[in-house]
Amino acid sequence: MAYNKVENATNRTFERTMTYDMYTDPKVLDKEMELVFSKSWQLVGHVSQVEKPGEFFTAEVAEEPIIIMRGTDGVLRAFYNVCPHRATKLERSESGKKKILQCMYHGWTFKTDGKLNKAPNFRGEEAACVQDACLRSIRMEVIESLIFVNLDDQATPLIESYGDFFDRLSEFPFLSELKRTHRKTRHIKANWKAYIDNYLECDHCHVAHPSFVDTLDMKDYQIITCENYSIQGTVVKPDKQYGEVDLNKAEMQGGSFFWLWPNLMLTFYPGPGNMASIEMIPVDANNSIAVYTYYFREDSLDKLTQEEKDLMTFAEQVRAEDIELVELEQIGFRSRAFNKGRYSSSEQAIVQFHDMMLEALDE
Ligand code: FES
Ligand SMILES: [Fe+2]
Repeated sequence: MAYNKVENATNRTFERTMTYDMYTDPKVLDKEMELVFSKSWQLVGHVSQVEKPGEFFTAEVAEEPIIIMRGTDGVLRAFYNVCPHRATKLERSESGKKKILQCMYHGWTFKTDGKLNKAPNFRGEEAACVQDACLRSIRMEVIESLIFVNLDDQATPLIESYGDFFDRLSEFPFLSELKRTHRKTRHIKANWKAYIDNYLECDHCHVAHPSFVDTLDMKDYQIITCENYSIQGTVVKPDKQYGEVDLNKAEMQGGSFFWLWPNLMLTFYPGPGNMASIEMIPVDANNSIAVYTYYFREDSLDKLTQEEKDLMTFAEQVRAEDIELVELEQIGFRSRAFNKGRYSSSEQAIVQFHDMMLEALDE
């Protein structure tokens, strides 16, 4: 989707926000599934999950069951996890390694490249007419070991969808060494957009995140809106000796927090090479699942250094504080007290997100 850099949000200060029914109305969520989640790049996993031929994992994108599989030919592919015979969900496990996928209904089998292997209930001439019944493939791209899919066959390639974002990312020198260390999910009693809104501003940091403002130099906190993504960040305080902030070079040694349209957040904290991703997955208008994945140089939690463990504890503390806030906010979204809020001058990244939402939904 084309989107130009947003105007400076200072002009938008005191303007009213999206109406609160955008956060509570199931019809809005239906529209978002169709026009936002089914048409945008969605992070689904990391190549370390599918390193060997035959390895796969399953996921859901915009309520569609999908499977990511490395073929016995070594090629990584994405398919709808749906049997072409009569729509049964094909692979039921979350992950595994197989040479053949078998549908449990009538026993059709598929090779790891998605082609039909056998259709036992079609014999003789019948067999010929189903031989090209393959799994339906899905657009997939891998950048910096992160696997993205897009259900829209016409979608702009991933690398062109987020301005210069991937150039910035490639400047984090440790990125190629990171492994997928840990993944956890958390049910949040709030609309997925409430969590994104919360992530996109730091006006609340002084009030809600004492450990965060104690560690990072909030005087230098910056928020920059770019094409289909935004960056926030700051250096750590001088006593923790990290260099000058330079958001334009993405060489920050302090915290660096990216948002990518529509529901992906990538965070980098100071210290040893690290990254965390957060995907917000709607459950219904008032509930979401947050998928948190931590990436360090080690592939399991028990191999982490104390410094890395402390970093995770720090990040989890900040998240717990945010979750409490958005769950309280969701209560108010449902209230008749108000139907809109206001933007402050430092909330330009929220303005960008909301403008993109309204444009995508044609509101
Ligand atoms: S539905 Fe899969 S084999 Fe019939
Ligand atoms: Fe926060």
